[in-house]
Amino acid sequence: MTNKNNLPILAILGGTGKEGPGLALRWALAGYPVIIGSRQHEKAQATADELNSILESDSIQGFENGIAARKADICVLTVVYSAHEPAIKSLKDDLRGKILVDATARVDFRNPIPPTPPSAARLAQTVLGDQVRVVAAFQNVPAAALRKNLDQPLKEDVLICADDPEDAGEVIKLAESVGMKAYYAGNLDNAVVVEGLTSILISMNKHYGSKTGSINISGIDKA
Ligand SMILES: NC(=O)c1ccc[n+]([C@@H]2O[C@H](COP(=O)([O-])OP(=O)(O)OC[C@H]3O[C@@H](n4cnc5c(N)ncnc54)[C@H](OP(=O)(O)O)[C@@H]3O)[C@@H](O)[C@H]2O)c1
Repeated sequence: MTNKNNLPILAILGGTGKEGPGLALRWALAGYPVIIGSRQHEKAQATADELNSILESDSIQGFENGIAARKADICVLTVVYSAHEPAIKSLKDDLRGKILVDATARVDFRNPIPPTPPSAARLAQTVLGDQVRVVAAFQNVPAAALRKNLDQPLKEDVLICADDPEDAGEVIKLAESVGMKAYYAGNLDNAVVVEGLTSILISMNKHYGSKTGSINISGIDKA
C-alpha cells in the first residue's frame, strides 16, 4: 500500500455502511492510506472500488475486518450500533496494539433516546483490555455531511473522549486533517453524553427536515 506521506494506515471496520465510506473518502483525500473492512472481503472490495472511482484513484483497499485491523495503525469502528459488542469481541486479537476509534452512538433513528452508561467506548475498552487504546469520536458527524461537498472542509466540531489525552491527540489530528475542529472532552465515560447528543441531533433533524445537523463549540480558544 503506497504511503508517500508517511501517515498512519487507517482501517474503517464495518466501513461498508453509511458512516464509514464518508470517513474513508475524506481521509483518502487528505492523503491517508485507507482500508475498508467488512465481514465479507468481496463487500469491502466493492465499497473500496466505488470510493476509488469517486476519487479517481486507487488509494482505498478492501479486506475482511480482522485482516483490515491487522494491516492498520489506527482502526475506526463504524459497525451498526446493535452489533457493537459482538464486533468488538470478535476483533479483540486483531486490534491488539492499535488505537481503536469508536464512532458508535447507540441510538435508534426511529426512536431516538439517549443510551445509558457505560458508553459504548467504555464498554469496548473493558472488553479489549489495556492492549488496545480506545478513543471515542465522530458520533455526532452525520454520514450525509461527510459525503457531500467533498471539495470543501467539514464544518462539524468533534468531541473526543479518551482515558489518555495523548491518544485523543492522535484522533484530533485525524479530524483536523479533514477540516473539523476537535476538542478533548474527557475520559471514555463522558462519551455516553456524546452518544446522547446524537439522539438530540436525530430528533432535531427530523423536526427541521435536515440530514446534516451537528454541533459547534463556542467559548474555547484552541491555540
Ligand atoms: N449514519 C450516521 O450518520 C452516523 C453518524 C455518526 C455515527 N454513526 C455511528 O456509526 C456506526 C455505523 O453507522 P451506519 O449508519 O454506517 O450503520 P449501517 O450502515 O447500518 O451499518 C454499518 C455496517 O455494519 C456492519 N454490520 C451489520 N451487521 C453487523 C454484525 N452483526 N456484525 C458486524 N458488523 C455488522 C455492516 O458491514 P458488513 O456487512 O460489510 O460487515 C454495515 O455495512 C453506528 O455505530 C452509528 O451509531 C453513524
